[in-house]
Amino acid sequence: MKIPWLRHNFLARRTLDRWFLDPPDALIRRLKGRGDLPPYSLRSFVGGAENFEEAGRFFLEDFLQQGLVSAGTTILEIGCGCGRVATSLARDERIKAWGVSYSGMDVDEASIAWCAKHITRWNPLFHFYHANCYNPSYNPSGVVAVDSYRFPHADESLDLVVLTSVLTHVLPNELIHYLGEMSRMLAPDGVVYASFFLSPILAEADNGRHAFSFPVKRENHAVNREDFPTNAVAYEERYVRRVVQEAGLQVLEPVRYGSQDIMLLTKPIASIELREGWYELETNTWRWTTRSFGVKVKRRKDAFTLRFRFRIAEALLENDRTLRLSAAVGESRLQAVNYSTVGEHLYVQKIPPPALGEEWALIHFQIESAYEPATEDRRELGVQVIFRRGLRPLCPVSIT
Ligand SMILES: C[S@@+](CC[C@H](N)C(=O)[O-])C[C@H]1O[C@@H](n2cnc3c(N)ncnc32)[C@H](O)[C@@H]1O
Repeated sequence: MKIPWLRHNFLARRTLDRWFLDPPDALIRRLKGRGDLPPYSLRSFVGGAENFEEAGRFFLEDFLQQGLVSAGTTILEIGCGCGRVATSLARDERIKAWGVSYSGMDVDEASIAWCAKHITRWNPLFHFYHANCYNPSYNPSGVVAVDSYRFPHADESLDLVVLTSVLTHVLPNELIHYLGEMSRMLAPDGVVYASFFLSPILAEADNGRHAFSFPVKRENHAVNREDFPTNAVAYEERYVRRVVQEAGLQVLEPVRYGSQDIMLLTKPIASIELREGWYELETNTWRWTTRSFGVKVKRRKDAFTLRFRFRIAEALLENDRTLRLSAAVGESRLQAVNYSTVGEHLYVQKIPPPALGEEWALIHFQIESAYEPATEDRRELGVQVIFRRGLRPLCPVSIT
């Protein structure tokens, strides 16, 4: 029997799930020794009843691969639900060893209650709080307008802000407000990791990539249902790019398109100030054919993440050229990457702990492009080297 209203009313469906599906799910979980998972009604409420752990693992590994989490990272997850991401992070031994701290916020009180009761026990640096914001799908009795909500975090205090399947449930005025808040809270080198339903133009919002259709077209966005607009919201990509920029953030290319489209956002290079533990080549530009340069860093005993940020101008990639970046720490070569898209890029590598007695790390970069500039060609490539806070490059940067 089809009861469409129930299917689309998330809270009514959760009540039914709680009555009819939680008891058998609890039994099955107990038999499988998985009493530590949230009940079915909570997993299903955030769209993750079946792939709860798999999705959590994907995000953890993606954060690590992108170099977004390392020693001392402070994370805020907005719309953490019943802890799909938090669970996998909180129990990971690397995350524990690095002293990563995490705050999870959601408008759904039941999800937050579950996370606070279970996840903080597994990792005491993980905390959760409820924000009673109104969302017609997830918190219809909320009393605070999303576009007036101020997050209880200090300016520039967060290294990573995560929103998976959350900006897919907010309307434009709320999106704009959240971007402003994220820009306020983000450390100068911080990154926002957010998923969207993006479309080049709204007429193409039903592109087969996303699990929803978006028949109700509005200005700059489209929704799946008129009566529950926040059930699923798709945005025009150029609109998102515009409001991101207006919030003082920028997109780290490339956007990764999929069942949800993942964007990394950061503060533009110009707004990043030279701070203790950072060295930037912001003002250095040079001819952008083959280049190499070295950075010498005083080592500490632990591993660290090296992040090298640079921009590729359109001219560099003319005629399907690619730019190849390779790096080495001492004798060990790091993974080389070929870049073939214009815009800002982030080259992230884990640098292993030093060998005994090794006091300095010399990191050597090599940029190669097949392009041979004419003598009168003045185009240049600007690069920037960024280290995680806490590292002090003593002999800053020597360019060879
Ligand atoms: C599809 S679930 C995703 C949950 C979680 N991020 C995950 O990936 O498992 C959407 C979540 O966003 C929350 N949410 C909806 N509107 C929100 C808002 N304005 N601020 C914060 N969270 C919100 C919902 O309560 C729900 O937990």
